[in-house]
Amino acid sequence: MCGIVGYIGPRQASDVLLSGLARLEYRGYDSAGVAIIDAGELTTTRRVGKLVNLQNALGTSPVAGNVGIGHTRWATHGKPSEENAHPHRDCTERIAIVHNGIIENYVELREELRATGHMIRSETDTEMVAHLIESYYEGDLKVAVAKSLKRLEGAYALGVVHLDHPDVIVAARKDSPLIIGAGDGENIVASDIPAVLEFTREVVVLHDGEIAVVTADSVDVFDLALRPVVPEMLHVEWDLDAAEKGGFEDFMLKEIFEQPKALRETLRGRMNDGEIQLSELAMTAEEIAGIARVFVIACGTSLHAGFVAKSLIEQWARIPVEVLCSSEFRYNDPIVDDETLVVAITQSGETADTLAGVREARLRGAKVIAITNVVGSRVTRESDGVIYTHAGPEIGVAATKTFTAQIAALNVLGLKLAQAKGTLGSERVQSIFDELSTLPDVVEAILGSLEELQECAELFADATSSLFLGRGVGVPVAMEGALKLKEISYIHAEAYPAGEMKHGPIALITDQVPVVVVATQGHTYEKVVSNIQEVRARGAQVIAVATSGDDDIRNHAEFVLHIPQTSEALSAIPATVPLQLLSYYVAKRRGCNVDQPRNLAKSVTVE
Ligand code: AGP
Repeated sequence: MCGIVGYIGPRQASDVLLSGLARLEYRGYDSAGVAIIDAGELTTTRRVGKLVNLQNALGTSPVAGNVGIGHTRWATHGKPSEENAHPHRDCTERIAIVHNGIIENYVELREELRATGHMIRSETDTEMVAHLIESYYEGDLKVAVAKSLKRLEGAYALGVVHLDHPDVIVAARKDSPLIIGAGDGENIVASDIPAVLEFTREVVVLHDGEIAVVTADSVDVFDLALRPVVPEMLHVEWDLDAAEKGGFEDFMLKEIFEQPKALRETLRGRMNDGEIQLSELAMTAEEIAGIARVFVIACGTSLHAGFVAKSLIEQWARIPVEVLCSSEFRYNDPIVDDETLVVAITQSGETADTLAGVREARLRGAKVIAITNVVGSRVTRESDGVIYTHAGPEIGVAATKTFTAQIAALNVLGLKLAQAKGTLGSERVQSIFDELSTLPDVVEAILGSLEELQECAELFADATSSLFLGRGVGVPVAMEGALKLKEISYIHAEAYPAGEMKHGPIALITDQVPVVVVATQGHTYEKVVSNIQEVRARGAQVIAVATSGDDDIRNHAEFVLHIPQTSEALSAIPATVPLQLLSYYVAKRRGCNVDQPRNLAKSVTVE
């Protein structure tokens, strides 16, 4: 949802900005641009399309200078064009800004600015901010920015430079992420941590309503009234290697293969002496005992993790769980009160719909626990408690390792609730946790074994549509498999509970519609096999994810992807892995960019 970066220090700003933008490109790739100050000139270079176009432009016409800002865009207001690309400038062309977010009152501001003689050149909401700063500027950039921010409705992370102040970048945020990498004699403003890791692991976390005045040697933070604020510092544990491809062809493939590690890290330290360790829940045993219902809110892949959580929590803790996508929760007058625990799942911690849901839930008196992968992200500040997944940075736009890590964290939460409610005894909790702890090895084994996948991918060579079926916990796995396929290969994929298919979707079946079935061992296995027969009788070619040792399934499917035996409740993580890889190989075979699928962005910070 747009990435912004700013550099000030001894290096060539264009190099740092381009390297930062490369690490932020997952946030959007409709256009990219930089504005660099040097020798009394502010030079802006912008190009439509991926970052490589900007890199080429700067390769042909280099721009020198040690201070600058850059942007990679996911278009919201105005088509992807050079005119609409950031940085945007004011009328005098002495101010340049980059922005991530949406200025909701931009139409009103545009009218006002036009009426006072400003020349608006683009269709964007962002450009209004440059003109506002121009109109408030009386020699102090920080003051002009602060006055402008008071006029804005909506969300922003901003980087601003002014030719009159060649040794300063002013940054500000509200509802969009922004950090400042604090280097030695240099500072880097960025939307996300990977953009600064090449230079520093010390980070200033900017909060909503804060403005930072950044020079090469200092970061001074203020509130909107320009009172000094003590900045929150963060030491980043992971290094640049974790954010690089490390020999894999794509981030997505690397991240799929990082799942064993992500699972181990997420489960580390969660069991001690038969007791689930989850102090982050910040609830006493009595408070947990008082939970009457759980609401899970999330979007996309995180929502699918929520559906897995429903079956676990209901089965283990016997608490009714409702799962709703965040954008529906907020507007549906949800039945939430102080006996409700709301679990908000968001890998980025910045998804606007989920954040709005969190606020709504707390307004209604619920306790909110966030499950996120990003330390210091916005959801961590808005929730009562935070359970981190420790999956490391996920750069591929399609979520993979964060999904399975979310499920691992939700397993721990489910066990904790069951233990506190007394619905599972300590021995049972210990034995489930012991099995959970084997999943990293199980996933490792799967990753090393699926030779048939590339061949399976052939089945989708000319497909335009596909179905994903499952029962029980296999339904969210099928949903996630279908989402992965459509996101990165652009093949229509629909997930259904296998038993529901005969009520309509079976009409879609032809020999051109591959059907992927989660057919692992479980109490509905026989039913799933019958469902497979139903689709095969209508010509479908079937790929089944099945349990090792189940050789009979070969009689019912064209391809079988075997995974090790686990208990049914814990089968979601291993069953997902072959589907992630399947979608990866299908997309690669079709020549798609798996890390940056069209129209998508990694974090969706607009409603
Ligand atoms: C998954 O592959 C997606 N690209 C998307 O559905 C994502 O899961 C969704 O936008 C939610 O993101 P979050 O977990 O950061 O809130």
